[in-house]
Amino acid sequence: MDIYQAVLNRHSARRFKPDNITDELIAKVLEAARWAPSWRNNQCWQFIIIRDKPVIEILFKGSSGKFFNAPVYIVACADPTKSGKREGIDYYIADVASAIENLLLAATAEGLGTCWIGAISHEESIRQILEIPSPLRVVAIIPLGFPAEDFAARTRNFVTNLIIRNRSRKELSEFCHMNKFGNRFSIRT
Ligand SMILES: Cc1cc2nc3c(=O)[nH]c(=O)nc-3n(C[C@H](O)[C@H](O)[C@H](O)COP(=O)(O)O)c2cc1C
Repeated sequence: MDIYQAVLNRHSARRFKPDNITDELIAKVLEAARWAPSWRNNQCWQFIIIRDKPVIEILFKGSSGKFFNAPVYIVACADPTKSGKREGIDYYIADVASAIENLLLAATAEGLGTCWIGAISHEESIRQILEIPSPLRVVAIIPLGFPAEDFAARTRNFVTNLIIRNRSRKELSEFCHMNKFGNRFSIRT
């Protein structure tokens, strides 16, 4: 699968098959995360790989983020002190986000499903359960597994579409500008 296919095929999977995934496959997608760009190449991220079902259930107890029954969950953390800050912009989130996106795309290329769960309402208890040291922040939890539903079929189903929210994207003309803000970007022939 080339990079454009992976980008287009990646989608948030919210149902998973119980089939397990090997440590080798997990290591392969983590390797993709490893090569992400980061502030001064500080690589401020830390990933905790969880296969232990009871631990996963505890993690999602009382959370507004959903427990999707995946065989593996990856808790993505980042150390703000190991990244930069500029005029109120914290780059640790950008660092770990680029690593996460690499991981999501690599997982797609491997036929795996993922979902970026950012609705983490009980970070402190997650930190305690997983013994995550201060000052690390928990940025996302990513279920990883073989998706239980066929993506192409799902996108054809109107009702399911409503449930999984609208996956449409803005047109390039809505967010791309040529030379200065407001000048419409268009392809010159
Ligand atoms: C920062 C961030 C936080 C997100 N949090 C959640 C979440 O808590 N629960 C969830 O089901 N999806 C979550 N998502 C997934 C988005 O809903 C999803 O990416 C978006 O609707 C586009 O759909 P797609 O991923 O299938 O292209 C999150 C995505 C991002 C980037």
